[in-house]
Amino acid sequence: MHPVFERGLLFMNDITKPFNFILPTEIKYGEDSIAGLPGILKDRDIESVLLITDPVIKVQPFTADLLQNLSLAGINVTVFDRVEPNPKDYNVMEAAAAAVDMKARGIIALGGGSPIDCAKAAAVVAAFGGKVRDYEDSSKITGDALPLFTVPTTAGTGSEVTFSSVITDTSENFKFTVKSSMIAPKIAFIDPLLTHSMPPALTAAVGLDALTHAIEAFTARNANPLSDAAALHAVELINRSLVRAVRSPKDRTARDDMMNGSLLAGIAFSHSDVAAVHCIAEALGGKYDTPHGVCNAVTLPAIMEYNLDYGVSRYARIASAMGLPFGSEEEGARRAVERVKLLVKETGLPEFRSFGVQDEDLQELAENSARNGSNKDNPRPMTAEDYMTVLKRLMA
Ligand SMILES: [Fe+2]
Repeated sequence: MHPVFERGLLFMNDITKPFNFILPTEIKYGEDSIAGLPGILKDRDIESVLLITDPVIKVQPFTADLLQNLSLAGINVTVFDRVEPNPKDYNVMEAAAAAVDMKARGIIALGGGSPIDCAKAAAVVAAFGGKVRDYEDSSKITGDALPLFTVPTTAGTGSEVTFSSVITDTSENFKFTVKSSMIAPKIAFIDPLLTHSMPPALTAAVGLDALTHAIEAFTARNANPLSDAAALHAVELINRSLVRAVRSPKDRTARDDMMNGSLLAGIAFSHSDVAAVHCIAEALGGKYDTPHGVCNAVTLPAIMEYNLDYGVSRYARIASAMGLPFGSEEEGARRAVERVKLLVKETGLPEFRSFGVQDEDLQELAENSARNGSNKDNPRPMTAEDYMTVLKRLMA
């Protein structure tokens, strides 16, 4: 064990490691920013687009408005609305085929993380052919995918600005990631008004996904000063507004905070990483199709406790970002964990046991968690046995 890890002083004695920071996505933030999308497509000579969404978002009034504005601008649009939660490999292949069939010059992704992740992967398959799992090997993405324009309708995923896409391989019930800056969206139109119709349970789940992105990005071994800055501000915004956004869906300030928090957390984790919480959440989502944000929410406090000795200073800084008073760093780290537990409770999310996890599945879940690409960045090195320990605690 490295002595720095042993003392729980991760990062404190290190000078800054070399890092690259690339943010290829232009961000257009603000209420009604979506109104500018048709004109920008016209300016780029993109006159035929595939709009990828899901059946819930397809029937929202803002979708009708967008389709009407695209039509008025003379843009040919085909709607693909068959994206499922935890997007599946076949969703991507069908969406890519639809893009090829209509000779799409670009893709609009409208929705939460599922349509956006599906769209990123479909943009690659439509451009280069093959099967989506081929692109788990990012060296196979040899150029720009079809240009992608993202419009998030939830505040949580951050996928509107990240260059990763998490897809379920349905033959293995395993989630894999396609990750390359070549699949980064060209422009993200981020309009907090689009989140006002989210019901409380969804607001809570996606908001805790965003908080998990921020906390994992800040404590991941691949963190750097720029991801740190984004992560800590995300923690501050989400901590102060999550419960308000859940209880008062039309609170513009709370929705604005959550949208900014989600965006910042997305920037943070795409330049740092996520870690063990996401490793478990993706194993659960792949196996049981449970909502990603809920999986993170129920797992986050348990992993923070498990990691605590390996990142006391960092967890204490999270407590500071949450405005929590404390004496020693150990006390601060503990208070951060307690605060996260309280947020999960106050937002009314279900408990781990409600997922219906079977004892006989635990070994498979532990092994799939350990082979997740983000496991290497957890502050505490974790094997499948470590994941087994955490999963058994969650089951208890
Ligand atoms: Fe996530």
